[in-house]
Amino acid sequence: MRTYSIRKRVLVTGGAGFIGSHLCERLLADGNDVLCVDNFFTGTKDNIAHLIGNPHFELMRHDVTFPLFVEVDEIYNLACPAAPIHYQYDPVQTTKTSVHGAINMLGLAKRVKAKILQASTSEVYGDPQLHPQREDYWGHVNPIGVRSCYDEGKRCAETLFFDYHRQNRVRIKVARIFNTYGPRMHPNDGRVVSNFIVQALKGAPITVYGDGSQTRSFCYVDDMVEALVRMMESKDSVTGPVNLGNPGEFTILELAKKVIALTRSTSRIVTKKLPGDDPKQRQPDITLAKRHLKWEPSVGLEAGLRKTIAYFRAGKNSPA
Ligand SMILES: NC(=O)c1ccc[n+]([C@@H]2O[C@H](COP(=O)([O-])OP(=O)(O)OC[C@H]3O[C@@H](n4cnc5c(N)ncnc54)[C@H](O)[C@@H]3O)[C@@H](O)[C@H]2O)c1
Repeated sequence: MRTYSIRKRVLVTGGAGFIGSHLCERLLADGNDVLCVDNFFTGTKDNIAHLIGNPHFELMRHDVTFPLFVEVDEIYNLACPAAPIHYQYDPVQTTKTSVHGAINMLGLAKRVKAKILQASTSEVYGDPQLHPQREDYWGHVNPIGVRSCYDEGKRCAETLFFDYHRQNRVRIKVARIFNTYGPRMHPNDGRVVSNFIVQALKGAPITVYGDGSQTRSFCYVDDMVEALVRMMESKDSVTGPVNLGNPGEFTILELAKKVIALTRSTSRIVTKKLPGDDPKQRQPDITLAKRHLKWEPSVGLEAGLRKTIAYFRAGKNSPA
């Protein structure tokens, strides 16, 4: 329901974060009015500084655990710290952000009849026993561990999305995002790609947890933003959950070696004890995304790493 305004009014919660800032940029380039809502817990104004001054961009400091009253046509709900050191800093607030945040944003979507997309996560699969993970796999999640505030918070948010859909006919889109990387990642959040790049650029030892044989798949942020936009634009019957990620699988050791080679670093690799509940394998099955969104990633790991390295080399606040 778009009244008067010719442009679509799009709300991005967590819009000053890593993925959110790229999404805001893309939505503006597509001719939308963008409202970026963020409490700046892990996001920063630097990520969206270049958008401030654009008459179609608006920034609002707000915590999604409190209700929000705005008139919008679409909502991308990305607000939530995504890195373990950030979401474990205040685990109760993390659960509140996922659960109360979902309730508040779904309530808003219901009131203004907006379409709403949830940035869910591969963490809903926990330490998966099925490989690669398909959307109909219910997961293997520890409900009481140190990662549970994030994993269970996101699982509960998915439940809320589907209940608002069944009970109130809210048009929902649940996207299960797998490891995404690129410019504007937080430099010290301990996530593996940014960690390795920062360590390599300093010539510091590269810390690999465990023996480095655990695997991950890495999706470049431009590919992820394209997928999120396609998901929002998909038919109402495409509610998800849909896995979004790059199925290319690499061991952590392979990633470390690639980063060292691309940065021409003198860093050496050191190993440390694996943290609690760290999944051993993670790889998306993206059959549904290919079918419903006609999407698959197009940026290879080396090309994506080069752009990310260039960003970190230039200094944290430089534009991507
Ligand atoms: N990056 C990934 O690999 C990945 C993987 C799976 C899921 N996701 C999901 O995608 C979303 C974006 O992740 P990201 O990597 O850009 O992380 P990020 O930490 O850079 O962005 C999250 C943003 O949400 C904001 N935020 C946190 N709590 C908030 C609150 N209560 N109210 C308002 N704003 C709040 C933060 O300040 C930040 O700007 C998150 O929901 C995350 O769970 C990301």
